[in-house]
Amino acid sequence: MAYDVNRIRKEFPSLDSGIAFFDGPGGSQVPKSVGQAIAAAITQPTSNRNTVTLSEQNAEKCVQDYRAAVADLLNCDSKGVIYGRSWTQLTYDMSRNLAKSWGPGDEIIVTRLDHDSNIRPWVQAAEAKGATVKWAEFDKESAELPVESITNLLSNKTRFVAVTGAANTLGTRPDIAAMAKAVKSVGALFLVDAVHLTPHAVIDFKAIGADFLGFSSYKIFGPHCGSLVSHPELLEQIKNDKLAPSTTVVPERFEFGTLPYEIMAGVTASIDFVAGMDDQATGTRRERIIKSMNALEAYEHPLFEYMEKEISALPGVKTYGHAKLRTPTLYFTFEGKDSVEIFKHLAKLKVNAPAHNFYAYEASHRLGLGDKGAIRAGLAPYSTKEDVDRLVSGLKSF
Ligand SMILES: Cc1ncc(COP(=O)(O)O)c(C=O)c1O
Repeated sequence: MAYDVNRIRKEFPSLDSGIAFFDGPGGSQVPKSVGQAIAAAITQPTSNRNTVTLSEQNAEKCVQDYRAAVADLLNCDSKGVIYGRSWTQLTYDMSRNLAKSWGPGDEIIVTRLDHDSNIRPWVQAAEAKGATVKWAEFDKESAELPVESITNLLSNKTRFVAVTGAANTLGTRPDIAAMAKAVKSVGALFLVDAVHLTPHAVIDFKAIGADFLGFSSYKIFGPHCGSLVSHPELLEQIKNDKLAPSTTVVPERFEFGTLPYEIMAGVTASIDFVAGMDDQATGTRRERIIKSMNALEAYEHPLFEYMEKEISALPGVKTYGHAKLRTPTLYFTFEGKDSVEIFKHLAKLKVNAPAHNFYAYEASHRLGLGDKGAIRAGLAPYSTKEDVDRLVSGLKSF
């Protein structure tokens, strides 16, 4: 079988807990190969990266392997892969760099569909420089973010546009390639938050046509860190603050201090794991990633349809997010019932489906869900029909 969920589940020690994990959009479980890679990297001879001693070479290899693996995952140039502690760290850093050239009269565009880490850093950077912020709105009923929601706001004053590749509560997958084309046509920079998209779809940075795109490894089997990818020639042009003796070379210029070699080794192992999800896939790592992610999508799609059908049939339920193209993530409330109490009830049944705004803060408020948000049940590559049945029966028993 191309996608054998039982084979995949055996690789995750945490599944022995008996927990049904629907909190994958918050962070996935981790296969043992990733833990082993981190342990091996941190206990082997290690020094600061360089090429002379074995220990320097080991550290250097961790860095180069990490960049090559991310490049395979996203189809980008390995010299454009910037490591960061988290996606939020990376957007804050890059917002300050890009805003160095923004001023009054310049415009940036953000959306109300995004996770706040792809809104606030840009908004705050623009405000600090006197630039104007324009907001793209999603449709409240469908949760679609049409291409026109961006193109209607573009002008020759637009400098920068940030859009999510997939909304982390509503699941919407906007047409980012079409948006990228429109944004580039007015000469602005386009950035995609692919944190919630990367665990569910093949990402092709070059085909999308964006200037920046990023993901967080802990959402896709890896350790807690993020990566921001771009084009090396673009990075060369971006000014950033750095220490006097530190390198001027990209992407290193954007990575502060000594890199966490063992975490990078963990990211590489997580991407190798992705490439092996379809155990019949052959070819280069990129080719195996594409086959594996396609096999995963084919597995997740009917399972999500089943979950959505079952949950939508429950009395008093309201589901949010009905975009045509979306991730297998369901966001819902029950009339007259407290979502947090439902979450706690499910937790007692060893079913993890938390309730919150999950930092999709603007979206939560636009939907009238305030700070509290709703329950989120997201499928992960180890989710099964049995997990879904446990979730549904837990919801029924509240
Ligand atoms: C879509 C999306 N963007 C950004 C983030 C933030 O990522 P990080 O924790 O790496 O800053 C999350 C985390 O939930 C997310 O789901």
